[in-house]
Amino acid sequence: MPTSSDEDHPAAHLRITEVSAGYGPVPVIRDVSLTVAIGEVVAVIGPNGAGKSTLLKTVLGILRPSHGRVELAGRRIDGMATNQVARLGVGYVPQVRDVFEPLTVRENLEMGGYTLPRRQVAGRLDEIMTLYPALAAMQDRPAGYLSGGERKLLAVCRVLMRRPSLLVLDEPTAGLAPQPAHALLFEHVPGLAAEGRAVLLVEQHAQDALAVSHWAYVLASGQVQLAGPAAAVRQRGDLGDIFLGRTISRPGG
Ligand SMILES: Nc1ncnc2c1ncn2[C@@H]1O[C@H](COP(=O)(O)OP(=O)(O)OP(=O)(O)O)[C@@H](O)[C@H]1O
Ligand SMILES: [Mg+2]
Repeated sequence: MPTSSDEDHPAAHLRITEVSAGYGPVPVIRDVSLTVAIGEVVAVIGPNGAGKSTLLKTVLGILRPSHGRVELAGRRIDGMATNQVARLGVGYVPQVRDVFEPLTVRENLEMGGYTLPRRQVAGRLDEIMTLYPALAAMQDRPAGYLSGGERKLLAVCRVLMRRPSLLVLDEPTAGLAPQPAHALLFEHVPGLAAEGRAVLLVEQHAQDALAVSHWAYVLASGQVQLAGPAAAVRQRGDLGDIFLGRTISRPGG
C-alpha cells in the first residue's frame, strides 16, 4: 500500500494543521496535525475520550478550532457552517442516527441527494444500485428492517449520493457483530478510497482499521501520540501502552 501522508504531503486533500479545539476554555484536542490524500484511507485510533470525534467536528464545521486551520483542497474550511462544508464535498457518516428508519432504502438514498436536481438524483441512484447490488435488491424495504451491516452500508451510500471528495466515517463498525464489521471494513472501505475519494476513518477496532488504512494516527489525551504508515503502526508492540497514555520512551515501560 502506498504510504504518503505526512506534514509536507504535497497532495493532501484534507489538511489539518496544529488544531486545538474543545467545548470550553480548556482544549480537548491540542496541536493536532493530519493529512489525507485522495485515494487514501487514513485511520485515527485511540481510546474512548481521546478526542477523535472532537477532531472530526472541527473538520465538519460543528466546532470552531481555537487554534490552527483546516483546509480542503487548499481552501480553508474551519469556521464555515456545516452545510457549507458539506457543499464543498465533505460527506459525514455519523455513528448513530445514520438512516431514516421509516423510509425505504430507495427513499433514504433519494434523501441523500435532496440538494441535487431531480434528474441527477435518478442517475446517481442508478449508479449506487449498480455498485451495490445488495442494496438494489432491498430498495423497497424500510431502513428500520435492515441488519446492522446493511444499514451502515446504506448510511454510507446515502452520503455518496452527493459525491463527496472526502468521506468522514465515525466508528462505522460500532454496534455491528464481528462478521458484518469485518465485511464493512475489508470489503467496502478500501473501495471507497480507490474510487477517488479521501477517507478519514475513526475506528474502535484498531487492528482492523490499521489493516485497511494507508496511514494512521494514534490520538490519546487529545494529542497525536504516534503517526506513520498503518502497517508500521500495526506492528508496534507498545500500541497498548500508547493507548493508555503511557509515553513511548518510558523507562522500563
Ligand atoms: N459536547 C461536549 N461538551 C463537553 N465536553 C464534551 C462534549 N463532547 C465531548 N466532550 C468531551 O471531550 C472529550 C473527548 O470526547 P470525544 O467524543 O472527542 O472522544 P472520542 O475519542 O471520540 O471517544 P469515543 O471513542 O468514546 O467516541 C471527552 O472528555 C468528552 O467528555
Ligand atoms: Mg467518538
